[in-house]
Amino acid sequence: MSNVRSTYTDSVNFYGNNTPMELVKTFGSPLYVYNENVLRTRCREVQALSDNPSFTPNYSAKANTNIHLLKVVQEEGMVVDAMSPGEIVMNLAAGFTPEQILFISNNVSAEELQFAIDRGVYVSVDSLSQLDLFGQLNPGGKVVIRFNPGIGAGHHAKVVTGGKQTKFGVDPESADTVREILGRHNLTLCGVNMHIGSLFMEPDGYLEAMGVLLSIAKEWMTEGNAIEIIDFGGGFGIPYRKYDGEERLDLTELGKAFHATITQFAEETGYTGRFMCEPGRYIAAECGVLLGTCFSVKNNGEKRFAGTDLGFNQLMRPAMYDSFHDVEIYREGGSEVTETMEQTIVGNICESGDIMAKDRQLPEIAEGDVIAMLDAGAYGYVMASPYNQRPRPAEVLIQENGEARLIRRRETLNDLLNMYPEADALISEFGEK
Ligand code: LLP
Repeated sequence: MSNVRSTYTDSVNFYGNNTPMELVKTFGSPLYVYNENVLRTRCREVQALSDNPSFTPNYSAKANTNIHLLKVVQEEGMVVDAMSPGEIVMNLAAGFTPEQILFISNNVSAEELQFAIDRGVYVSVDSLSQLDLFGQLNPGGKVVIRFNPGIGAGHHAKVVTGGKQTKFGVDPESADTVREILGRHNLTLCGVNMHIGSLFMEPDGYLEAMGVLLSIAKEWMTEGNAIEIIDFGGGFGIPYRKYDGEERLDLTELGKAFHATITQFAEETGYTGRFMCEPGRYIAAECGVLLGTCFSVKNNGEKRFAGTDLGFNQLMRPAMYDSFHDVEIYREGGSEVTETMEQTIVGNICESGDIMAKDRQLPEIAEGDVIAMLDAGAYGYVMASPYNQRPRPAEVLIQENGEARLIRRRETLNDLLNMYPEADALISEFGEK
């Protein structure tokens, strides 16, 4: 494709039979675009971590809950987790069975726990008080406990979830109280899980934490608990700096150690339940880009800004975690440009922190250019909001045959008006016709 900067998407034929300009013309701007082949490839890479028959890779649906992407993940043979009743519903709607869903709850109400119990999904609790609540609601039931292995990892303090400084998990030191609560409600401990944090590019911390969780599991098994789930969590990183040649997380190396660890544990203990990992970002990030349009360019003193419709309402990661997303630039009839200048890509939200890409060396961006924020498939749409009353974008899937399919329509102003008690009158007077 002849574009200003598109080497990465060209290399994976990301847009199939379409150009980004055509997609924006047909489905509007901004627009989330996903590539089915990339999604399937990532699922298969995770499944290849181990051929141990007990290995049950789980997709962490919070990264992207679009039902049509979940369907692809389900077809690929993965199971799924959920953080809320909403995610349970999306997973069920995509075709996952209750036994394929693990509700990893955190500070939830009795109503939410009951919702999960009624749907028959596995439930993991992450505090003693929630274990007690679960027992009151479901005496004699089966429960998974999230332990905090004391080890954390992640790309930002806000996404580290292991270690004593974070809110997550039951302290393994509280085993006596856990026993007492399980006994009081006649509960069966059927699984243990953990999640140390999000985005590691070196596997050491993950492997170390696996060892901790396995020794916790072994202790509970020795006491006669019928453990059927051992879930090591997600956090597998992806290379966001593609144009700088950032290396991928070495899944072959991680897989070797992962496979050896679980296989040895199964041999030693006779364990036949599931061994799970639950990456979200690794599965979903690279299959998605966010397309937008440049509407204005300006210089404020030395600083050059490209003004677009890509605000933090559409992709929150740069504003929230200072995250880096690579950028591509497309232009009707354009050709590759290698000369670069420093530019900052900003959105149309009324905040100075509305920055998508700061001080980047990029080919000169012009009005009318279509811009892609790469690797936006995970924690992109799911964290979008209608801030400034800008409706959320549509989502399109580039299918295996290269054709584009709308998988969620753009939110409308009528959708925003529809939440009010007097919705009908508001829509008929002020809404879109
Ligand atoms: N399991 C549990 C219990 C989790 O809390 C998470 C992520 C995952 C699995 C999946 O982690 P992953 O493989 O995607 O790293 N919004 C942030 C990431 C927050 C992750 C929250 N929990 C971001 O955009 O970087």
